[in-house]
Amino acid sequence: MGTNYIPEFIDKKTPTLAEKILFPGCNPDKKKLHKILEGKTILITGASFGIGAALASKLSHFNCTLLLIARTTEKLNELLHAVKSEKCNIFCFTTDLRDEEQVKHLVEELVRREFKVDILINNAGKSINRNLVDSLNRYHDTSRCSATNFTGPVQLLLGMLPVLFLQRGHIINVSAINVLLPPTAGWSAYQSSKVAFDQWLKCAEPELKARNVKVSCLYFPIVRTRMSMANEKNARKQSMSRDQAVNIILRYIISGKRKYKPWWTGVIQLFNFIFPDLWFRIQVRHYRKIFSIK
Ligand SMILES: NC(=O)c1ccc[n+]([C@@H]2O[C@H](COP(=O)([O-])OP(=O)(O)OC[C@H]3O[C@@H](n4cnc5c(N)ncnc54)[C@H](OP(=O)(O)O)[C@@H]3O)[C@@H](O)[C@H]2O)c1
Repeated sequence: MGTNYIPEFIDKKTPTLAEKILFPGCNPDKKKLHKILEGKTILITGASFGIGAALASKLSHFNCTLLLIARTTEKLNELLHAVKSEKCNIFCFTTDLRDEEQVKHLVEELVRREFKVDILINNAGKSINRNLVDSLNRYHDTSRCSATNFTGPVQLLLGMLPVLFLQRGHIINVSAINVLLPPTAGWSAYQSSKVAFDQWLKCAEPELKARNVKVSCLYFPIVRTRMSMANEKNARKQSMSRDQAVNIILRYIISGKRKYKPWWTGVIQLFNFIFPDLWFRIQVRHYRKIFSIK
C-alpha cells in the first residue's frame, strides 16, 4: 500500500476564514474513483514536485498504471520508492519538455512500450514574474516558458493522440486563473505561454470531442507549492493547498467536466466588463509611481 508521500515543499498553513470561503474543499468520491481508475493508464507531466507529485502519490493507492514525467530523476525515483505501491505500476521518464529531441524520444518510447494512455494530465509548468525593464536581456524567460508551458506539451500531446483516440481518453490541462482574467504586468512570459496552450487546446477540443476524447481545463488560483511560494508577493496572498488542487483534479477525472474555475472568477470578469480599463489604469499609475515618471 502506498504511503502519503509528499516531497519537497511542506504546507503547514492552516486555512484562513477567507481561504475557506474562496476555496471551499470537497473530497472526491473514492468509490467512483476506484471504479474509473481500475486498470487505467495515467500520464502526468511535472510529477517530481508540487501538484504533480502530490497527485501521483494519491493515485498510487489505486489499481492503475502511472507514467511520471519530469526532469529531476532523483525526485521521481524518491517518489517511486516512497510510495512502493502494490496496486499501482509506476514508470518514470526523465524528459525536459523544452527539448524537442527528448520529447520525440519520450513519445517513441511510450509508443514502443505500448502504454495505452487513458488520461493525460498536462501539469508540468514554469512560472516567471519579472518586470519588463528587468527582462531586457532575458528573452530566454519567454522562450523557456513557451517551451515548457506551450510547445513542449503540444508536441507530447500530438504524439500521444493516436493512443488517446483509441482509448477514448481524457486530457486534463492544469492551467492558471490568470488565463481568464485581465493581463497583469510582470507576467508576460508565464501568462502568454499559458494562454497559448489554452487556446491551442480549445481549438483542438471539437475535433477531440468528436473522437470521444474529453478535455478538462482547470484554471487554478495560487496553489501553495515551491513554484508560487518562491514569490514573496504570492506567499502573502490567499491561496489553495496542494491537496485541494489534487482533489479538484480527481473530481474532474470522475466528472469529465470541461472547466474548473474558482466561483469568484465570474465576479472579477463582470467587474472587468463594466470597467474595462480600470485594472490597466491602476497598473500604469503604479508603475509611474515606481519609476517616478510624471
Ligand atoms: N502553484 C500555483 O500557484 C499554480 C497556480 C496556477 C496554476 N499552476 C500550474 O500548476 C502546474 C504545476 O505547478 P506547481 O505549482 O506544482 O509547480 P512546481 O512545484 O514547480 O512543479 C512543476 C513541475 O513541472 C516540472 N517541470 C518544470 N519544467 C519542466 C520541463 N522543462 N520539463 C519537464 N518538466 C518540467 C517540474 O519538474 P522538474 O523541475 O523536475 O522538471 C515539476 O515537477 C503548472 O502547470 C502551473 O502553471 C500553479
